[in-house]
Amino acid sequence: MSGLLPGDAIARIQSIFGEKAVLVGRSVADPLFESIASDVEAILCLVTDRIDASLLARCPKLRVVANVAVGIDNIDVNECRARSIVVTNTPDILTDATADLAFGLLLTAARRVAEGDREIRADRFPRFGLSTMLGVPVHGQTLGIIGLGRIGQAMARRSRGFGMPILYSQRNRMSVDLERALGATYVDVDTLFREADFVTLHCPLTPETVQIASRARIDSMKRTAVLVNTSRGPCVDEEALTDALETNRIFGAGLDVFVAEPRISERFRTLSNVVLTPHIGSADVGTRIAMAALAAENVIRVLSHQQALTAVSST
Ligand code: GLV
Repeated sequence: MSGLLPGDAIARIQSIFGEKAVLVGRSVADPLFESIASDVEAILCLVTDRIDASLLARCPKLRVVANVAVGIDNIDVNECRARSIVVTNTPDILTDATADLAFGLLLTAARRVAEGDREIRADRFPRFGLSTMLGVPVHGQTLGIIGLGRIGQAMARRSRGFGMPILYSQRNRMSVDLERALGATYVDVDTLFREADFVTLHCPLTPETVQIASRARIDSMKRTAVLVNTSRGPCVDEEALTDALETNRIFGAGLDVFVAEPRISERFRTLSNVVLTPHIGSADVGTRIAMAALAAENVIRVLSHQQALTAVSST
């Protein structure tokens, strides 16, 4: 099958294993998939592909599922493990791209960049005035990071350039050395939501992080605060966030991920204080080529009976 991945990832796999053994970069919902499922040995998939138990049951020869993403919530990893199927992802190489976008959303929401752009395009250039389109300050404000993993740390490093003190929260506290290097203070999640000027989510989607941005926590945020989400939509109670934005309970939000993407709540569309991007956290050219190449290398290795480079679960 031909695929939709950048670079020569697909060509590499096909040159070694031919067409039939590998599903590459096509939705598993594609009818073509059903016609080859019983022969498929490797699936190279996107976050939009749901690799669940029923799909796995239709692929008796499957040996590797290579996600072209760092998040693996679209894959039933336990079922893969039970079937001795290796699952791989693409960590590290998308860290900076994702943090770049998260910081961009933070700035855009705080300084009303997208709103200003819309006004100008609608031929409504606002008259210059000392109180025209006031945003909230970024420099020197407190950044709250949920999940100080690779992407959270990259976000922290960016914020250092803006003189922002950092609060962070996650299941386990980081080493004192790392906290000192990043200028980060460990707090519980409730405190973080209450005290930060910006809250940015960098946690994986797990049962523990579903709606970690809950109604109570969103309502506890400062009126001047901004919420940024580049992790997964279900980490946020979208109803509660929309209510808070509509009533100006908080200043704004920058969202790259949504509960039911690609469907977006109609209410978000009408709000001027939310910046919306279509799940493009890792979408810069170099990063996407590197992700596809890493996923391809993982497939090639597993099918050649070698260790995958970035296995999430191995057999
Ligand atoms: C994208 O959402 C990823 O997990 O890489």
